[in-house]
Amino acid sequence: MKKTIVTLSAVAVLMGSTAMADGAADKHPDLAFRHHTMETIKDNTGALSAILKGQGEAENFDVYADAIAANAKAFTVVAKQKVPGGETLDAAWENFEDYSGKLDKFTADSAAIAALGNDATMQQRVAAFTALTKNCKACHDDYRKEH
Ligand code: HEC
Repeated sequence: MKKTIVTLSAVAVLMGSTAMADGAADKHPDLAFRHHTMETIKDNTGALSAILKGQGEAENFDVYADAIAANAKAFTVVAKQKVPGGETLDAAWENFEDYSGKLDKFTADSAAIAALGNDATMQQRVAAFTALTKNCKACHDDYRKEH
């Protein structure tokens, strides 16, 4: 029993320090998760964009696309828990049906780019990337706080 308590408090300390790094020590863990999945999506979108411009390793296109799909899906599940705060505007909870629809479309478009595989043509990649990135602004304009 004592060991369990020690282990749990060690976890609490670890979680506390991670949250503190985000300036969110007293916040619900979903907020940190939402933040980090979106940051991961941003970085992987940047990698795909670079590849489409002929930089980086074109054969790893699917690695970044898969990462976006996994994080979009995870973000969607957690966002639907409706924990207020973070960088999400209250409008998301007030217009939940619309927000939820945008999350589902984003998840579908990210699954589509991940499903292309490495034998896809450049044209297919660009089309899927354009469709994917339209989701970002469409949702942020209504539901994300201005930075
Ligand atoms: C369906 C809505 C939606 C879509 C689509 C979406 N985002 Fe976001 N994004 C959000 C919300 C809401 C937040 C704020 C999350 C929070 O902290 O509560 C956010 C936050 C972010 C952040 C900042 C992290 C933070 O929390 O401060 C980045 C970077 C980001 N998004 C990038 C992207 C990119 C790149 C795409 C498209 C490839 C994208 N997002 C698609 C809703 C969306």
